Amino acid sequence: EAAEKGGYPSFMAKEIDEQPRAVADTLLGRSDAAGRLVLDEVRIDPAELAAVDKVVVVSCGTSAYAGQIAKYAIEHWCRIPVEVEYAHEFRYRDPVVDERTLVVSISQSGETMDTLMAVRHARELGARTVSICNTNGATIPRESDAVLYTHAGPEVAVASTKAFLAQITACYLLGLYLGALKGTAAPEVVKEVLDELHAMPEKVQTVLDGLERVREIARFMADSRSVLFLGRHVGYPVALEGALKLKELAYIHAEGFAAGELKHGPIALIEAGQPVFVVVPPPASPHGLHGKVVSNIQEIRARGARTLVIAEEGDEGVVPYAEEVIRVPACPPLLMPLLTVVPLQVFAAELAGAKGLDVDQPRNLAKSVTVE
Ligand code: G6P
Repeated sequence: EAAEKGGYPSFMAKEIDEQPRAVADTLLGRSDAAGRLVLDEVRIDPAELAAVDKVVVVSCGTSAYAGQIAKYAIEHWCRIPVEVEYAHEFRYRDPVVDERTLVVSISQSGETMDTLMAVRHARELGARTVSICNTNGATIPRESDAVLYTHAGPEVAVASTKAFLAQITACYLLGLYLGALKGTAAPEVVKEVLDELHAMPEKVQTVLDGLERVREIARFMADSRSVLFLGRHVGYPVALEGALKLKELAYIHAEGFAAGELKHGPIALIEAGQPVFVVVPPPASPHGLHGKVVSNIQEIRARGARTLVIAEEGDEGVVPYAEEVIRVPACPPLLMPLLTVVPLQVFAAELAGAKGLDVDQPRNLAKSVTVE
């Protein structure tokens, strides 16, 4: 086993480090020499795909947060509604699905029973189904009309890390493909986003190389009883994933909130010393989102929160209100989750390690949940 860990203290540490590769391998072979997107493996008639008028994403756990990120991207590029649903809720609520619905399942293992049952149900209702999966030949891809494999390599640690980044990457590719078929994403846009995607592995590496301070903070915070996470736009699912990782790995109570909801409830939780991670949208985000999140940081800081801020390189606006600033390289706002989630993974893993916990096999959890 020590050999399999390749010198890392845990599979998770190794898998976190493999993330640039997971993203690069998921992009590999999916564009042609001219840099155009090629997704022939999605074997559904392109005319049928172009006619899709709704996407429903079904998944569980960390994969469900990849789905939430996909919603922002697919709606932006394809101009059709995207619903993101926990697989176990989808099946039992009489969902509105028909032949023109594309149901996208996201599952690292391809064996999660709830997700499989949701896919079967979607097919019964006449939907086309695409599986985004990390495991060749698993049940869910076998039972779907088409599959888009993530190439993260085998993931051993129970809590998902590198498969998550690969899933997000695959979702972007699927969104661009669908947008290109529908004519809602111009070829120049597709090309530009693909170029940006190809630059992401190196940027993920830059984030990984700069996390010593995050590790230190995690060790200082090993006794924390509660940690909150705020995010907005695609940073919102990142906040949810940051909280999930901390629950899973470190058994600390953690909640993620949409930053805009702060004033509708969560701000009541803020008292002196409460640690709050804030995932800040880039200053170039549309609709003044950056400024709105900076105001949130200011509000919680004024109430004594310890503000741990994840912000783009060069974003000076956050500095006055941040106890700590964790920097990530600049990239288009929609692609930010590939970078901003990484410090949160490392924070949770390091804190769990400091508590002497087994990060690869957290208590009560299974890698793949094959019962309903
Ligand atoms: C389990 C794992 C999670 C994972 C979830 C969904 O709960 O512990 O890390 O995100 O299942 O798994 P899947 O294989 O469907 O992505």
